[in-house]
Amino acid sequence: MKPTTLLISFGIVLSITGCNNTTSVKINKNLDGKLLLKQKCNSCHNINFPPKNFDNEMAPPMMSISFHFQDWFKANTDAEKLQNQISFVKEYVLNPSLDKAYCTKDMLKKYGLMPSQKGKVTKDEVEAIAHYVFTTFTPQNLAQKQKALQKLHSLPLGEQLSIKYKCISCHRKDKRLVGPSFNEIGEKYKNNIKHIKNSIKNGSKGIWKSSHGASMPPFKNISPKDLEIISKWIY
Ligand code: HEC
Ligand code: HEC
Repeated sequence: MKPTTLLISFGIVLSITGCNNTTSVKINKNLDGKLLLKQKCNSCHNINFPPKNFDNEMAPPMMSISFHFQDWFKANTDAEKLQNQISFVKEYVLNPSLDKAYCTKDMLKKYGLMPSQKGKVTKDEVEAIAHYVFTTFTPQNLAQKQKALQKLHSLPLGEQLSIKYKCISCHRKDKRLVGPSFNEIGEKYKNNIKHIKNSIKNGSKGIWKSSHGASMPPFKNISPKDLEIISKWIY
């Protein structure tokens, strides 16, 4: 697995929260903007945050649109700006036109005008999508995400894998949770890395008094390479 794909999959560490200026803009809470964005806009727009590559583009990536709208829209307060951005998108997606477009002439030439999405998406849905995009794809959130990635990068590979495989829901390095700490496991099987590998692959039950009979599920599908790295790290 390439390091980039590996890192992108660490959902827990990277989960981001929206801005704090969202309360004053009302949207239909029953609509899931994130999901709708994927269903209704992803066929043309790259909706990764940040985009993993810029190949085969049919439309500007959503992150670029969001960042540009941050600059292009002026308002007295953040909430007002957000409201203006959402209103614009609601109108544009159903009735796009050259004179309304904020996209530069170069971009319009490159991609062509966006086809109207009338009949494919409702105004309420566009509102939920736009709200999600403008509150999530922000420069602040990007910076946070990059910081989290950097932090993750600086961890030993074995520790990164313990996050990827969600071992950390039951284990910590130096603290008991449901399972024993990785430090005490390493101490106990000092001369027996084979035993560690075996337990990860097949699970374990009844060995650790401190776990009070809780069992560890087997990780049958862990790749041999990951098993080696994670066992060595614990060891
Ligand atoms: C069939 C392809 C296609 C689909 C589907 C599509 N778009 Fe677009 N979109 C484009 C293209 C091409 C552009 C760039 C040209 C333009 O601005 O009109 C664009 C531009 C935009 C812009 C910038 C408009 C500006 O000011 O120039 C926004 C905002 C936007 N799209 C939102 C959406 C949303 C939200 C959805 C999903 C509901 C969506 N698009 C679905 C093709 C698409
Ligand atoms: C759902 C909770 C849970 C998850 C997830 C989990 N473990 Fe465990 N683990 C436990 C428990 C509970 C024990 C103690 C079991 C026992 O007493 O035999 C344990 C024990 C172990 C042991 C020692 C087993 C032995 O033979 O003494 C190792 C090594 C281990 N876990 C590694 C891992 C690794 C690596 C992962 C992720 C790939 C992981 N665990 C994920 C709960 C979990």
